[in-house]
Amino acid sequence: MDKLIIEGGSPLYGTVSISGAKNAALPLLAATLLAPGWHTLHNVPDLRDTRTMLKLLEILGARWERSGQTIRINTDQLTGVEAPYDLVKTMRASVLVLGPLLSRSGFARVSLPGGCAIGARPINYHLKGFEKLGVATRLEQGYVEASVTGRLQGGTVYFDTPSVTGTENVLMAAVISEGTTIIKNAAKEPEVGNLIDMLTAMGGAIEGKDTDRLTVHGVGRLQATESVIIPDRIETGTYLIAVAATGGTVTITGCNPAHLPALSEKLALCGVKIEAAENSMTVSCPEINGKNRCSLHSIDITTLPFPGFPTDLQAQFMALMVQGDGVSIIHETIFENRFMHVAELKRMGADITIEGSRAVVRGIGRDKLCGAPVMATDLRASASLVIAGLSASGTTEISRIYHLERGYENMVEKLQGLGAKIRKVRE
Ligand code: EPU
Repeated sequence: MDKLIIEGGSPLYGTVSISGAKNAALPLLAATLLAPGWHTLHNVPDLRDTRTMLKLLEILGARWERSGQTIRINTDQLTGVEAPYDLVKTMRASVLVLGPLLSRSGFARVSLPGGCAIGARPINYHLKGFEKLGVATRLEQGYVEASVTGRLQGGTVYFDTPSVTGTENVLMAAVISEGTTIIKNAAKEPEVGNLIDMLTAMGGAIEGKDTDRLTVHGVGRLQATESVIIPDRIETGTYLIAVAATGGTVTITGCNPAHLPALSEKLALCGVKIEAAENSMTVSCPEINGKNRCSLHSIDITTLPFPGFPTDLQAQFMALMVQGDGVSIIHETIFENRFMHVAELKRMGADITIEGSRAVVRGIGRDKLCGAPVMATDLRASASLVIAGLSASGTTEISRIYHLERGYENMVEKLQGLGAKIRKVRE
């Protein structure tokens, strides 16, 4: 197994370019199942998760070819209807094939994902949504079997809390159907908007993009088309926080600042200076005591659905707040178990207490974190440990970095390009 070795303490300087969003690429790849023909997707990141989704599409009968960041996929002949346990257990987003398979084949069998490192993460909203469209679902030996007789029928779907993949799954089922579907309390994440743009380009009729009420006028069929994956806002946020934590001056290119309203606001409150242009963001830290450092005021955050503070940046932001000048309360409201990084950050000297869904982070100030051997437990927790390692004195060794490779394209090379002393070694 590979691990990361980081010699901390070097500020970051230069330019880093952002890849396509993992959480947009996954539903857009699944959406290619909706119509036969050659689909073209641009800006697809080469990640463990996108490779897993391509493997799943292959099992279902698709053929694909990659040229750089562009993937062409042919879904003329679907020969399978099942997402097997072996794939679903490595990537929960495999459930995103349920909606398109129901639309295209009227039947799908998908292994029920179990709990994961960040919470129980059920898929009951997805299934309740499908049932409103006339789908019968049952659980058979750990698999969800979903079927519909004839075509899917429009219906009204209400989510108790906005679910990103739940909204995407129901959208992909409803787009080819008879009648109109209304999704109330829909997720408004930019990744959902990216999927709506693709479905619209394919011939779908969807109103209400970027709002919590989506109206889908069912159509008879869709056609293959060409789409572009949006920039990864979580990768962008991770680099912004990394520079705020280590110091230096970095320009992040190929990103969309409008997708990071809460983080930009919170970093400004911490005292971090960010200049945003249309497709780039520059973090520059002033010189303090001979070092280019941003001041770091401790502030509170609460994770919320978009446009609130993303849960996918909570762990990284905590790695920043452990170095703050006071107390920061970090309230995680999306997932019930997303504090696995806390124990590892404490091994590096952080002062954090967990009280239910809140973490009380008592900032220890700059230059106080110490490198240590730590273990990555999930994707974003791993990114948090990288940020802590980059700002700590001495050496940090991060094991189980396969989590990181699920969602960050070339992170080691990108950080090396900014002057970080980080390398990957075989354990
Ligand atoms: N929920 C249910 N039942 C459901 C669906 C969701 O109770 O059927 C609950 C969840 O347990 C959670 C809340 O609703 O408490 C919101 O979860 P959501 O469904 O929005 O999460 P998701 O769609 O499974 C996506 C991202 C996650 C990201 C969350 C929240 C993808 C592939 N995954 O997950 O990304 O954290 O939205 O923004 O889009 C990551 O990239 O590291 C990651 C975990």
